[in-house]
Amino acid sequence: MKKKKISIVGSGFTGSTAAFIAASKGIANIVLVDTYGSPNPTTGKALDIAQAMPILHQNSHIQASNDYADTKDSDVVLITSGIARKPGMSREDLMQTNQEIVENATKEIVKYSPDCVIIVLTNPVDAMTYAVYKASGFKPNRVIGQSGVLDTARFRTFIAQSLNVAVTDVTGFVLGGHGDTMVPLIRYSSVSGVPLSDLMDKETIDSIVDRTRNGGAEIVNLLGAGSAYYAPAAAMIEMAEAILNDSHRLLPAIAYLNGEFNHEDLYIGVPVILNKDGVEKVVDLQLSDEEQQAFDVSAASVKSAIQSLK
Ligand code: APR
Repeated sequence: MKKKKISIVGSGFTGSTAAFIAASKGIANIVLVDTYGSPNPTTGKALDIAQAMPILHQNSHIQASNDYADTKDSDVVLITSGIARKPGMSREDLMQTNQEIVENATKEIVKYSPDCVIIVLTNPVDAMTYAVYKASGFKPNRVIGQSGVLDTARFRTFIAQSLNVAVTDVTGFVLGGHGDTMVPLIRYSSVSGVPLSDLMDKETIDSIVDRTRNGGAEIVNLLGAGSAYYAPAAAMIEMAEAILNDSHRLLPAIAYLNGEFNHEDLYIGVPVILNKDGVEKVVDLQLSDEEQQAFDVSAASVKSAIQSLK
C-alpha cells in the first residue's frame, strides 16, 4: 500500500516536533515546508529526523522544501507557520500577521492537494481555522483546528498529578475557544470511569480548570521565548493519525458549526468524529444551562476574533 503523505507548513518548534513524532510512529512520509535562508534550518531538521529513522526502525521519508509543488497529493496538511506568542502578548495580537501567512499557505496547499484535510495550529487558532476555511474553498469538514486535544491533555495531566494516578486512565473533555474562555465539561471527566467529582472536591477541580485555561500562558512565561510545542505537536499528530487511519475517533477539535450547540458560521472546539475526510460529524451534546452559558461566552469571543479578520 502506498505510504500516506503529511505536509507540514512551518518547520519551527511545533512543525518540526510534529514531523519527528509522525516520522517516529511511521504513519506517513513527510514534507516540511518553510521559507529558506542561509543557514537553512528546515533542511537541517529534515536531515536530522531522517537520520533518526534507522535507530527508530522506521522508513518514513522526510523532505525539506520551500516549494509547495513538493506537497502535491498530501493526505493531510498541518499549518503551523506564523509568529509565536511572546510573553505578555495576547493571541489576538497575532491576528493580522498570522492571517496573511496562513491564507497564503492555504492557497498553495489547495492548488497541489485538492483532496487533503487541513489541520490548523497557528494562533489565534479558532479565527485562523476560519480564515483557512474561507481561503481554501473546501467544504468545512476538510478544515479543522487543533485546540481541544491539547487543552484536554493539559487538564488530564493536572488531574493525574493531583490524584497521583496514571494519566492514561484520566479522561476529560474541553469545549469552546482555545484560551481563557475554554469550557471543561467536568461531568465527562473520570478516572477509569469513576467521576472526577467522587475523587476531588470542587475547590481542587476549580483550581485545575483555572490552570488548564492558562496552560499556554504558564508555559510561555516559563520558556521566556516562544510557546509550547511538544504537546501541541503531539495533539496535531493524534488528529492526523485518526484521519489517515480513517479510525472514527471521537476527539475534541475546532470544527465548523452549522446550528450545532446553537451556533452557526463559526469555528470552535467541539466533539467530532474524525474519518478520512476530516470531520464526519459534529457530536452535538445537550449542555446544561450553565455549560451552554459558558459555551456562548466562548463563542462570542471567537466570533469577535473572526469579525476582526481582514
Ligand atoms: N511560509 C512558511 N513558513 C513560514 C512563513 C511562511 N510565509 N512565515 C513564517 N513561517 C515559519 C517560520 O519560519 C518558522 O519556522 O513558521 C515557523 C514558526 O515556527 P516557530 O516560530 O518556532 O513557532 P512555533 O512555536 O512552532 O509556533 C507556531 O503555533 O502554537 C502556535 O502560537 C503558535 O502560531 C504559533 C504557531
